[in-house]
Amino acid sequence: MPVYALNNVTQTYNGRTVLDITALTVQPGEVLAIVGPSGAGKSTLLRLLAFLERPSAGQIAFQNNVVNEQWPDLAARRSVTLVFQRPHLLRRSVAANVAYGLKLRRASDVKGRVAAVLAQVGLAERAGAMAGTLSGGEMQRVALARALVLQPDVLLLDEPTANLDPYNIGLMEQMIATANLMQRTTIVMVTHNIFQARRLADRVGLLWDGRLVEVAAKEAFFARPSSPQTAAFLNGEVVY
Ligand SMILES: Nc1ncnc2c1ncn2[C@@H]1O[C@H](COP(=O)(O)OP(=O)(O)OP(=O)(O)O)[C@@H](O)[C@H]1O
Ligand SMILES: [Mg+2]
Repeated sequence: MPVYALNNVTQTYNGRTVLDITALTVQPGEVLAIVGPSGAGKSTLLRLLAFLERPSAGQIAFQNNVVNEQWPDLAARRSVTLVFQRPHLLRRSVAANVAYGLKLRRASDVKGRVAAVLAQVGLAERAGAMAGTLSGGEMQRVALARALVLQPDVLLLDEPTANLDPYNIGLMEQMIATANLMQRTTIVMVTHNIFQARRLADRVGLLWDGRLVEVAAKEAFFARPSSPQTAAFLNGEVVY
């Protein structure tokens, strides 16, 4: 059973269709990377997958339930976590930010779990710092930590490592890969970085002007792109 199945899904804002996906399925436990130029609709797709918006038309099924007909219940919505392109942290300590979602869920051993995930992202020593004093890379790591600590079934990542240095990119990628490997977390990640897609993804999709022009296993996507847009994108001929 696929985690998601999209069927003729469109999203239209003010009469302008920015997303038009004929078909897309996401399989449990896979890492699907979505690449594509700026404005292609990548973040819009993630918002739909996170149930933050309803599509203008078409069907999204989540674990075989059609979302448009019956909005997913709290448990289903909580099984999906989106890390935003520009995450907002609460004006509280790093530890409080990471603990927040767990407390909402009335989880047990909040302290222990927060400490463990902060150690994992290399921020144990910053646990008591106010979130606003962190560097950009540290904030992005907190945003990922706060998602991972919830152990979601589905993790949606919007440019998780944009503007990070290679060391932080490596740390973040390790966390993403570990969550996928150890918890079998299904991951849909948007990235501008085709090398990152190559390192992390099982399948890669190219979104182009709202359309998914190609979705293929990573090896085929990079070695034998079937669409001219993919070839152009991979050759760096696309102007962002
Ligand atoms: N709420 C909205 N209202 C109106 N237009 C929107 C809205 N959200 C997105 N758009 C438009 O939809 C198009 C796709 O936006 P989206 O943010 O999904 O692109 P993207 O692929 O994530 O781009 P980037 O790589 O720059 O983040 C853009 O032209 C954007 O201006
Ligand atoms: Mg975006």
